[in-house]
Amino acid sequence: MSSNEYLSSESKEQERIESLPHESQNSSLRLGVLISGSGSNLQALIDAIESQQLPGVEIALVVSNKADAYGLQRALKHRLPAIYLPNVGAQFIAPETIAPETIAPKPTMSESESRLTALLRLFQVDLIVLAGWMRILSAAFLEQFPQRVINIHPALLPDDGTGSTYTTSDGTQIPVFRGLHAVQQALDAGIKITGSCVHFVTPEVDAGPVICREEVAIEEGDSEETLHERLKVVEHRLIVEAVRRCKSVE
Ligand code: GRF
Repeated sequence: MSSNEYLSSESKEQERIESLPHESQNSSLRLGVLISGSGSNLQALIDAIESQQLPGVEIALVVSNKADAYGLQRALKHRLPAIYLPNVGAQFIAPETIAPETIAPKPTMSESESRLTALLRLFQVDLIVLAGWMRILSAAFLEQFPQRVINIHPALLPDDGTGSTYTTSDGTQIPVFRGLHAVQQALDAGIKITGSCVHFVTPEVDAGPVICREEVAIEEGDSEETLHERLKVVEHRLIVEAVRRCKSVE
């Protein structure tokens, strides 16, 4: 890993991670990976698991809300259970073995979130990884999985995820960029350093406690595409490290 990688060391973050309701000892940490696009971060997890870099971790399910997401093909190539779950679509029918109360939709959740909940429970997912999932999850959905949803964000967030500024390792204060256009916003702001991080998901978008992050220098002539490609290289390390940290505290 590069020298400017940052792993949050604050004890409150460790406590937060330790509060993850993990599975019993010796069983796997089962990931539910949610995607909407190319799935290169999903691929990083697949590669890490297949090369024994994440012992005791398995991908239980891949869910895409886009039918043509390339990540679905990556999942199928590696024989992982994968499903396209449209934002609006056919009713999900649970197998009879699932108790009806387990899948009863919560009134404040969308129908798609109710179906997503049922799927995640059906596949006994312990940790939900948003790996390029382009849909905001409601507070009602998140309440069901406290400290069990993590997200990759292509910008730098402060330790607790909140606030409007971030101080880089060279002492420069930069704005915090949240939402869909964080990479372009970093370019537009004319700053020299941006980065990526993995954080716990809270109802406020891109504002949850950081698990790990790494800075990336913005180069002269960078476009949104070139910068995002370099950020993704970093993300592929970060997502593996974040899952490892979540696994290590069980
Ligand atoms: C990543 O850059 C991540 O930061 C953002 O969405 C992108 C997903 O890329 N949330 P991929 O689908 O994993 O290639």
